[in-house]
Amino acid sequence: MLEHSGVLIPREKSYLFENRLRPLLRRYQCASLDDLFARAVGEDDAELVGAVIELMTTHETSFYRDPPAFVALAAEFERLHQAGKQEINVWSAACSTGEEPYSIAFVVDQFRRRRPGININILASDIADETLARARAGVYFNLGSYLPNEYEGRYFTRRERRWVVVENIRNMVQFEHFNLLDVKRRGRTFDIVFCRNVALYFPDEIRLPFFHDLAGCLKSEGMLVVGSSESMYRATNRYHRARHGEFFYYRRAN
Ligand SMILES: C[S@@+](CC[C@H](N)C(=O)[O-])C[C@H]1O[C@@H](n2cnc3c(N)ncnc32)[C@H](O)[C@@H]1O
Repeated sequence: MLEHSGVLIPREKSYLFENRLRPLLRRYQCASLDDLFARAVGEDDAELVGAVIELMTTHETSFYRDPPAFVALAAEFERLHQAGKQEINVWSAACSTGEEPYSIAFVVDQFRRRRPGININILASDIADETLARARAGVYFNLGSYLPNEYEGRYFTRRERRWVVVENIRNMVQFEHFNLLDVKRRGRTFDIVFCRNVALYFPDEIRLPFFHDLAGCLKSEGMLVVGSSESMYRATNRYHRARHGEFFYYRRAN
């Protein structure tokens, strides 16, 4: 897990391995978990490694998780617009099942009603392919408790007992597989990066250089939003802290 995704499962939680991975034994015709690990590591079986990562990483997320982040995002769009930007690129760097990038798309849609003509692109990525497929589909059993009420009717349709993100919002988000451990090879820069609630699972020796390298994906003074319980304290001098009201985020230092 650590080598492929950076995610560290603490020893006291290793029982999770057994429960979550047991369904893979039959699928990969392994007699025991030891066999499964031997095959994943020894044969360098990318599909099996992907299935293990899928089951072992937490994909918890929700629409408008930490709502002040989206208020700060709208303010950043306005700031960039005032600065004369015609195109803004946003990256949701560990997008899980899609609630985060679609929430970003709702903010974009609201912003464009006031400022038509500005081009805002949203890229969303994750390491887990089945999770990404669910994100692309945009079908949800519940919308969580943070989504503004009026957005239910505006951005979703009902299909049986599920909520489906409307097509024009789905088309605003481009999804792709990307492992954050490859961040040095990203080869693109963004105006705004959401990288929330993923690096907290990386041990310090991965997390600190990761945030250092992530700065290379941001334009100068670009905005980095991390999770509400995450801190860049001691991580790197490539950012400075910024705030919108009570909400803290980071900007790439020049
Ligand atoms: C807890 S979710 C966070 C989702 C969203 N960013 C949020 O804050 O609501 C963490 C996601 O990080 C993904 N992940 C874990 N390790 C990763 C890595 N090395 N590269 C890319 N994504 C990773 C997991 O698959 C999972 O979907």
